[in-house]
Amino acid sequence: MGRPLFTENADSYNRRIDYLRISITDRCNLRCCYCMPAGGVYPVKHREILRYEEILRIVRVFAGMGLTKVRLTGGEPLLRKHVCGLVERIVKQEGIRDVGITTNGVLLKEMAQPLYDAGLRRINVSLDTLNPLKFRMITGTDHHREVLAGISEAERVGFDPIKVNVVLLKNINSDDLLRFAQLSRNTRYQVRFIEWMPIGRCRGEDGSRFFSAQDAKKLLESTGRLIPIPRSRYDGPAERYRFDSAAGEVGLIGSVSNHFCRECNRMRLTADGKLRPCLLSDEEVDVRSALRANCSDHCLSRLIQTAIALKPAKHGLDFRSDHVCRRDMSQIGG
Ligand code: GTP
Ligand code: 5AD
Ligand code: SF4
Repeated sequence: MGRPLFTENADSYNRRIDYLRISITDRCNLRCCYCMPAGGVYPVKHREILRYEEILRIVRVFAGMGLTKVRLTGGEPLLRKHVCGLVERIVKQEGIRDVGITTNGVLLKEMAQPLYDAGLRRINVSLDTLNPLKFRMITGTDHHREVLAGISEAERVGFDPIKVNVVLLKNINSDDLLRFAQLSRNTRYQVRFIEWMPIGRCRGEDGSRFFSAQDAKKLLESTGRLIPIPRSRYDGPAERYRFDSAAGEVGLIGSVSNHFCRECNRMRLTADGKLRPCLLSDEEVDVRSALRANCSDHCLSRLIQTAIALKPAKHGLDFRSDHVCRRDMSQIGG
């Protein structure tokens, strides 16, 4: 017998929502130019941030509706105290088969082993350049060496896969691509090149920093043949390739130019307790108020279903439209 057409976690376009990205803090120790506005952010007050117990309750109820995959994001998730305890409890939650974290890597050298011991196996690290001076220009800090040390430590303790996220920035890191290509030959890292999404106050007006995944692909192809890696369902947003006899992979994430909304299986939970059906739409469902008003599990699952039902077919983001996403990326977690 086939799968029923609609299940508890199916949205209006019959996509099954089984992946929740949870932002556990809006704070960050870097100031990436494409993510944090120059004037800084207004950090959310402590009491407005979901407590771990509240996050775990959402995960438990959502797992009962078909959630299988969780990714912790930020801001920078490793800045939040006792994050390993949270990981351990999510890993043990019945129904959850896959837990990952996306970090900027600054604290990873010290945290890789405890995270691994807590049961985490998959890690994505943001690193936009292999050049320390450019790193300072992009992030406003000198933590480049710590990030590299963090990635090496993650490899040493056994994380697999290790994905390295490179946001493409025209005339800033476009000439780093070839060094990253080399990294994918010499290590087992999966290096992914991501189109910069113009959202929040870092939106920029003219798209002059935008560098497309297609252009990145052409540049990579100038150094050797890219062998496609077949996609499996719910493989994530990257088009994956490998250079001949490379140990690792390269991936292209065309978030703006070639969106993958038709296969989207994800929802976001912001640090201040809003379920966000689509990264690039400001529609949100407030679950924190319900949790703090002692709602029942049934009521919580209804709110989750409401959020699922609000998921749009696709996003309307591009540099020519006046589509604006109010939240900054640091509040949503990518
Ligand atoms: P895995 O597939 O589990 O490894 O994770 P991921 O690639 O979904 O997560 P990661 O946090 O590494 O995100 C990589 C990039 O893809 C980031 O720039 C995200 O903002 C972007 N991205 C992730 N999900 C979506 C999405 O639903 N829509 C769009 N447009 N971009 C997304
Ligand atoms: N566009 C594309 N990717 C972004 N990220 C953060 N801000 C943006 C943006 N405006 C990436 C980070 C991180 C991932 C979660 O999202 O580099 O790797
Ligand atoms: Fe899904 Fe929205 Fe991302 Fe498209 S933009 S893939 S619908 S979250």
